[in-house]
Amino acid sequence: MSKQAVDFMELSAYRKALDTSFVHRYSHGEDEWSWDIGMARAARIFLAALGDRPDQRILDVGVGRGRDASELIQAGHRVTGLDIVENSSWPLLRKRWGERLELLNSALQDWQPVDGRQFDAVLDNGCFHHQHPDEWDAYLAHMRSHVRQGGLIALNVFGVDSSNPVPGWREMDNQRQGYFFTEQGIRDTLESYGLTWQELVVIERQHGDAMYLLALVRN
Ligand SMILES: C[S@@+](CC[C@H](N)C(=O)[O-])C[C@H]1O[C@@H](n2cnc3c(N)ncnc32)[C@H](O)[C@@H]1O
Repeated sequence: MSKQAVDFMELSAYRKALDTSFVHRYSHGEDEWSWDIGMARAARIFLAALGDRPDQRILDVGVGRGRDASELIQAGHRVTGLDIVENSSWPLLRKRWGERLELLNSALQDWQPVDGRQFDAVLDNGCFHHQHPDEWDAYLAHMRSHVRQGGLIALNVFGVDSSNPVPGWREMDNQRQGYFFTEQGIRDTLESYGLTWQELVVIERQHGDAMYLLALVRN
């Protein structure tokens, strides 16, 4: 896996490009992932993997419009959602879910909980694969630091398929990049950051080519 083997733009410029790209997509109603049945399925698999214990504290990284957060809360959990884009759906969600939902406008890499709390589990449904390669270390280290030992971490990432089996970066809109993994590639990547492998679920992507690979790991 060669996450560096790409002529990537400088980190601060890429951060701005990522922000611009997501703001544009949400404000133009072009965030088709918000309605993607594959992404919704990934969240349900994560929910099932949480087990029967109620009232778990979940960190939803790249919470977007809050589809998954709402489902997790309905199942009896509490959610903190982070996103680089303050979504127009957030005011209504805050009103609806009250103290069970906290929504914060921050990149995962920049965020520290004020009270130093740790979460029982983390869901990253479609966020990690867009991060600048120079930030993978910081991103995953932050993620791990927010989860209790043994806690569940689910990352849903782009996966290659037979129409284009080559792993690597693919350019999306507004200079946003997406990394497409092989099944072995996502496993090797997460294990190389010290996470304990649990399971991989391959999920059909409703919009666009390729697949989703939902990696379930433990901290
Ligand atoms: C493909 S969308 C998925 C949104 C949501 N998880 C879903 O399933 O509908 C990725 C989200 O991650 C957010 N994002 C990207 N980089 C981020 C970062 N470093 N920290 C937090 N959120 C980020 C984007 O603004 C966007 O809302």
